[in-house]
Amino acid sequence: MTRHLKVDAPDNESRVDQMAQGVLGMPINRIEGHHKVTGSATYAADAGAEGMAYGVLVQAAIPAGRVAEIGDVPGVLAVIHDPRMLRRAAQGMATEGPPAGPQQIDFMGQAVALVVAETLEGAQAAAHALRVRYEAYQVPVDPDAVDPELPEDKQSSSGDLDAAMRKAAFTVDNVWHTPSHAAAAMEPHAAVAQWAGDCVTIRAGLQMLGSSREQIADALGIDEGQVRLLAPYVGGGFGSKLGINAESVAAAIASKQLGRPVKVVMSRPQVFDLAHRRSETTQRVRLSCDTNGVLSGIGHEALVSNLPEAEFSEPVTQATPFTYQAAHRQIVHKVARIHRSCAGSVRAPGEAVGVTVFECALDELADAAGIDPVELRLRNIPETEPGTGRPFSSHKLAEALRDGAQRFGWADRLTPRARIEGEWYVGMGVAAAVRVNSLIESRAKVTLTPQGRATVETDMTDIGTGTYTILGQIAAETLGLDIGYVDVRLGDTDFPRASGSGGSFGAASSGTSVYLACVEIRDQIAARMGCAEADLTLQDSTARCGNIVRRLGDIVTSPLAGNGHLEPGKTEDSVRQATWGSHWAEVAVNRWTGETRVRRMLGVFACGRVLNHKTARSQCLGGMTFGIGMALTEAMEHDPRDGHIVTRDLAEYHIPCHADVPPMEVHFLTERDAYVGPLQAKGLGELGICGAGAAVLNAIHNACGVRVRSLPATPDKIIAGLDP
Ligand code: MOS
Repeated sequence: MTRHLKVDAPDNESRVDQMAQGVLGMPINRIEGHHKVTGSATYAADAGAEGMAYGVLVQAAIPAGRVAEIGDVPGVLAVIHDPRMLRRAAQGMATEGPPAGPQQIDFMGQAVALVVAETLEGAQAAAHALRVRYEAYQVPVDPDAVDPELPEDKQSSSGDLDAAMRKAAFTVDNVWHTPSHAAAAMEPHAAVAQWAGDCVTIRAGLQMLGSSREQIADALGIDEGQVRLLAPYVGGGFGSKLGINAESVAAAIASKQLGRPVKVVMSRPQVFDLAHRRSETTQRVRLSCDTNGVLSGIGHEALVSNLPEAEFSEPVTQATPFTYQAAHRQIVHKVARIHRSCAGSVRAPGEAVGVTVFECALDELADAAGIDPVELRLRNIPETEPGTGRPFSSHKLAEALRDGAQRFGWADRLTPRARIEGEWYVGMGVAAAVRVNSLIESRAKVTLTPQGRATVETDMTDIGTGTYTILGQIAAETLGLDIGYVDVRLGDTDFPRASGSGGSFGAASSGTSVYLACVEIRDQIAARMGCAEADLTLQDSTARCGNIVRRLGDIVTSPLAGNGHLEPGKTEDSVRQATWGSHWAEVAVNRWTGETRVRRMLGVFACGRVLNHKTARSQCLGGMTFGIGMALTEAMEHDPRDGHIVTRDLAEYHIPCHADVPPMEVHFLTERDAYVGPLQAKGLGELGICGAGAAVLNAIHNACGVRVRSLPATPDKIIAGLDP
């Protein structure tokens, strides 16, 4: 039986709070953790198969054109040059890439061939030796050198911003630049493909199996039912594995041709080239306010880039329309069509860079108006969504700001260069955190055996986020079991289709489908107990109903199964759903070298129900660490001649690690959001990055008086602003 729920109305019942097991929300360790730390959890690149051959991708050496001729190399099993392989990865969330023209090359480093050999070393040597002759075209690679498109549906304005700017007591009008960013997941993209008759099984690293299966079937020209994907463990995605990429299709084509399993693993530089990047952005922010710091105008213009036919464009201004109120508003979104690598969703697409820049602009306005930055934000929080008048599903920005100010010791903040410790200027910065929230259709199956063990099955993925654990906790809580009696099986398209991991929607979407499946089983248990499901208490493998108490094993005499099916409904549109928070940073800036050291950070977040306080906290720590990267170190540099990525490994692309990351504190506000269904939990994965970099940049200004508007704020840029 399937329990179906379309979330058309708020669910204020808080059924989950009435459950008795007491495991949901607890900061328990990852249930698959020991597999990971002992190395028994295998990732796609670890997988092997009897008779497996090795494929290595060959990359285009020109930014645009076509392959005219591919040479021969001795000692290989195959050199595959197949247009299906050139199918672009999905650029955004669950969107399919357009088919590439015959052998069309769109960017430097695109996969043009696969060399297959008996050994990895043999394939690598042959790929290196392979000669490819191209017919090359001249194409633009600089977003500032082309006339951008202005997609009609992405522009909006109300009132008269120019007039508001002219009349205002205080204004800000500045331009910021953020570079291209890499997802930089630890696990490289990898696939092992193996055919049995007309069906292919691909062991892969993917975030969303359901849509990836459609994309692979489509690329190969076969039926969805002929493709099985397995991704039980995924070593991070950060957007780069939302859709398919060259490795899985190439491995499938080669495996079919050779009649044996083929493994394709990208090298680290290949991951940088072939996984989509976050577009660089140029953002102009205009703000105007009166003498009390009340905003009259908000303008946010963004220029981003992507390949000519790509659908996705970085939604920079996504949160701007509803975060603060102002009568006069203007949003401008421009897309430059250029031939850098494909741009797509990376770590909180939109807000990561949009909120960061906007929150820097607000800091500048606070400065201009002589108003405390926390106070300025508090004075401009809307009651309902500006423009539409829709209510917010919940709204915790003000509380997050007040609570954070208290915890962080904001009252001790001084003016720039007032706090000096040796050769270091020390300062504090604040920024708001905001991220849109949504649900995605999800299904799950749960089985309860007479032995009292539950099994959760769904094609959901755990990309390092803690999905195994929270789904286990949801089942344990609702079925009254110790978490040790729950087995969670994920990452297999033979299981019911879930949301997949992306856009912070995974936990709430797949979690609700598991909850619904468990309620279905609770119904069956209640029937055997002779009571209503709502009156049933399940705890420690015992069922209780009034004064009737039975061991679960005595009533579950044959396996009970339940299916859950969640669909987003009217609450997606009837209210504005978002998660909220505040970021705080204290930094020291060296007065001679311009080096910034982040000393401590705090994030205060509200995301509805927290399903596991440990994995949730880890998500936020990760996001805040990305914030340090965005503010101080991360930049994908493109060669101005051909657009190719210069910083294409982890030595050149600087992700903060270890000594770069100071003590960080995460605090969750208690919240239930009824508009997202019975779990009352919203997405959290990406909230921690949205605005984190702004807290660091604003702290740099508070420390030394320098504003860096071209990210990252490397020492050379800070030194340029410091008086000798
Ligand atoms: Mo996320 S960038 O939707 O994986």
